[in-house]
Amino acid sequence: MAKLYVNPGNPKSKISKEIYGHFSEHLGRCIYEGLYVGEDSPIPNTNGMRNDVVNALKEIKIPVLRWPGGCFADEYHWMDGIGPKENRKKMINTHWGGVVEDNSFGTHEYMELCRQLGCETYINGNLGSGTVREMSEWVEYMTFSGVSPMADLRKENGHEEPYTVNYFGVGNENWGCGGNMRPEHYADEYRRYQTYVRDYYKDKKIYKIACGPNVDDYKWTDTVMKIAGKYMDGLSLHYYTIPRDEWEHKGSATFFDEDMYYVTLRKAYRMEELIQRHSAIMDHYDPKKKVGLIVDEWGTWYDVEPGTNPGFLYQQNTMRDAMVAAITLNIFNKHSDRVRMANIAQLVNVLQAVILTEGERMILTPTYHIFRMYRDHQDATLLDSSMKTEEIGASNGRVPNLSESVSRAKDGTITITIANLSSETNYPVEIVFSEGEPETVTGTILHHAIFMCNTFEEPDLVHPKEFTDMKLENGVTTLHIPPCGVVSLKVTMKK
Ligand code: AHR
Repeated sequence: MAKLYVNPGNPKSKISKEIYGHFSEHLGRCIYEGLYVGEDSPIPNTNGMRNDVVNALKEIKIPVLRWPGGCFADEYHWMDGIGPKENRKKMINTHWGGVVEDNSFGTHEYMELCRQLGCETYINGNLGSGTVREMSEWVEYMTFSGVSPMADLRKENGHEEPYTVNYFGVGNENWGCGGNMRPEHYADEYRRYQTYVRDYYKDKKIYKIACGPNVDDYKWTDTVMKIAGKYMDGLSLHYYTIPRDEWEHKGSATFFDEDMYYVTLRKAYRMEELIQRHSAIMDHYDPKKKVGLIVDEWGTWYDVEPGTNPGFLYQQNTMRDAMVAAITLNIFNKHSDRVRMANIAQLVNVLQAVILTEGERMILTPTYHIFRMYRDHQDATLLDSSMKTEEIGASNGRVPNLSESVSRAKDGTITITIANLSSETNYPVEIVFSEGEPETVTGTILHHAIFMCNTFEEPDLVHPKEFTDMKLENGVTTLHIPPCGVVSLKVTMKK
């Protein structure tokens, strides 16, 4: 029997709610169709934003949304997306699918979307092909309250008050699509550009995020931290879980065998090593952990669904994705002393999306349900916990059988999330508290066969249910977690 030990007397870091963040790019059907349909659409909307999608995202308490890219960010010129829509430039989205970008979703629309969602804003600026002046003026446009050319322009465009910009990314993947720079060059460019990301607010500062490494490029982290570490609040990390090592054949989202299931989970686990090793480098330059590691792109990346535009990155989402999300979010929780934000890629219709749409129809993916079940970890305090696990899986995909994390909310309620990674074995687990005694334990479970997904024809095949296979006796909770299952428990302690 696996034993999960929880030590409530040893509170650790705060799990920033932003770890449960999302990412939306002008890519495929993420922004257009997925989020924004325009005021005249027959699809029910508020100021152009789909009501069904906005309501579903509020349900998972979406804390922050990154925009406009991704690679698109370093080709985006923000002035193209303001002012009367009929005058906005129509152009080719050269990076993603070669389709027409009519700029009908720009700064004001993004801010309106975040207002409706009640979430924080994370704008990614253009360092790759934009000028320092352009970046500086965008910040002035959005955040300055006084009289200035950019603040006046914002007012002319209908927004009197400044917007709130919480996070600002100074370039994206500048080692690749954002300019193919060397780390030394980027670090110097970062220092220059960020100088002009001015703080116009009286009571708060914009949190500045530098472009961090691609996967395991430790030299990038070392160089950028050394040269520019003291000018940043956060450093990004991008890591995608790609089942096969060949870029042209990443693997199907829905057709895979057990071996491929385990290989995918093993690759998801790599996140832990990446966080540990990048954090160790950051610790060297920033021992007080002032700079956050911002994992602003993560998730599964498969071959696109057959028959869809290869540049749209549209993929289905199965229980395998739910397990990747469960594992990864547990890892982030456990490393929340350094990981301050994470943004799964991407919100709707792209890569590991929480929502898929087709015309007026919408489905919630298994990954969505994990975010729903984990939402009480947001802004809770991580508690010390440990569990002895055993290795399972295919010869090239060995993973621990169970993954867990535990947190305590301000009201004292404890949230425990445990994933059983096995494709076939039900595991009993005992939860033992080193101090205090649970009074009540209630739970939710998401569990199904590894390849199961929701479809537009059957939108509710995979959904969470009340979890009842557990008992609380003499302070010890015993539960049985079915294979490919994730449970989220709420525990109240005796006073
Ligand atoms: O999320 C898709 C793309 O992946 C992003 O545009 C880019 O930053 C990354 O390579």
